[in-house]
Amino acid sequence: MASEQPLAAVTCTAPVNIAVIKYWGKRDEELVLPINSSLSVTLHQDQLKTTTTAVISKDFTEDRIWLNSREEDVGQPRLQACLREIRRLARKRRNAWDGDPLSSSLSCKVHVASVNNFPTAAGLASSAAGYACLAYTLARVYGVESDLSEVARRGSGSACRSLYGGFVEWQMGEQTDGKDSVARQVAPESHWPELRVLILVVSAEKKLTGSTVGMRASVETSPLLRFRAEAVVPARMAEMTRCIRERDFPGFAQLTMKDSNQFHATCLDTFPPISYLNAVSWRIIHLVHRFNAHHGDTKVAYTFDAGPNAVIFTLDDTVAEFVAAVRHSFPPGSNGDAFLKGLQVRPAPLSAELQAALAMEPTTPGGVKYIIATQVGPGPQILDDPSAHLLGPDGLPKPAA
Ligand code: DP6
Repeated sequence: MASEQPLAAVTCTAPVNIAVIKYWGKRDEELVLPINSSLSVTLHQDQLKTTTTAVISKDFTEDRIWLNSREEDVGQPRLQACLREIRRLARKRRNAWDGDPLSSSLSCKVHVASVNNFPTAAGLASSAAGYACLAYTLARVYGVESDLSEVARRGSGSACRSLYGGFVEWQMGEQTDGKDSVARQVAPESHWPELRVLILVVSAEKKLTGSTVGMRASVETSPLLRFRAEAVVPARMAEMTRCIRERDFPGFAQLTMKDSNQFHATCLDTFPPISYLNAVSWRIIHLVHRFNAHHGDTKVAYTFDAGPNAVIFTLDDTVAEFVAAVRHSFPPGSNGDAFLKGLQVRPAPLSAELQAALAMEPTTPGGVKYIIATQVGPGPQILDDPSAHLLGPDGLPKPAA
């Protein structure tokens, strides 16, 4: 049987985001509603992005998905929740617009392929970029124009923050149906051009306790987490928004570090305790504080998610000196020239004074595997060039996909 042309094929990209006020804990597991609001920085897609193609065709007999070229189980509950939700929104729109010629697309099955331009196993927030990209691409292919927070959130809570560029808050909302639990842009990516982000990849291993399981245990057992959600985060959201609006780097940096530390404290307060930081993470924490103390100013901040990798925020005039400090304290392994990826960083000398202030003997090489230098970036994008599609006209992955 000759294959019909697909009804539609769309390819989009979406960014990774890093929370500076952390989301940890759900009040509704099914709807993925958080116990506190959170705020993140969207990272630039030149360095880190997910690309997703969705194709719908009358020929397809089932929904199928390929992640990094491997076919995965489309029956996974989170994936199913995203598909169900997008089709519900599409149906709602079609009903409003009777006689839409595209309405037949709703009964079609979809094929999806998705790839990351960074190692999924590097412990970077691939699920946020992945589900944001899935929601955004499915919305384009099914003609949905409404807010996509709910679709992305059902995949992974933090994914709703990857729907926008710049600085993004996820308002926890109050309603039981979650309709007001949505992501909103606080400031666009152009707002703070000097801000830089360094990802210090400490371990590429898969984490011991995933976020979903970890936060469930914290909600059940940690009194500190409840205190944090009720008494700490609301004021921090307001203060972080102010720091961003006023481009107050020391304020932004201090609050970012305190919030990361409090999140990891709630992990330790969970019973049995959860520990995501390792000895290298702690050395990075000390390095940052000593670097700041030497300068008598908060010039660098760290934050850690559910793993040992550090994300560093600083301003463009400090990047070179801080990278020199990292190279000194964590000598590169055998990958000397591939140690720094992403944005160019000019080599800078490390002054004897700073070296003395760091008071750190270099570790054995390779503690920090590599650094990705990046900056704040835009939200999801549609790729118009059909050659960007990861799926061919037959709906199967192209050989290079
Ligand atoms: C520590 O969004 O991965 O990165 O909603 O269960 O999929 P699920 O969790 P997820 O949690 C992210 C937790 C975090 C903090 C953050 O990104 O806000």
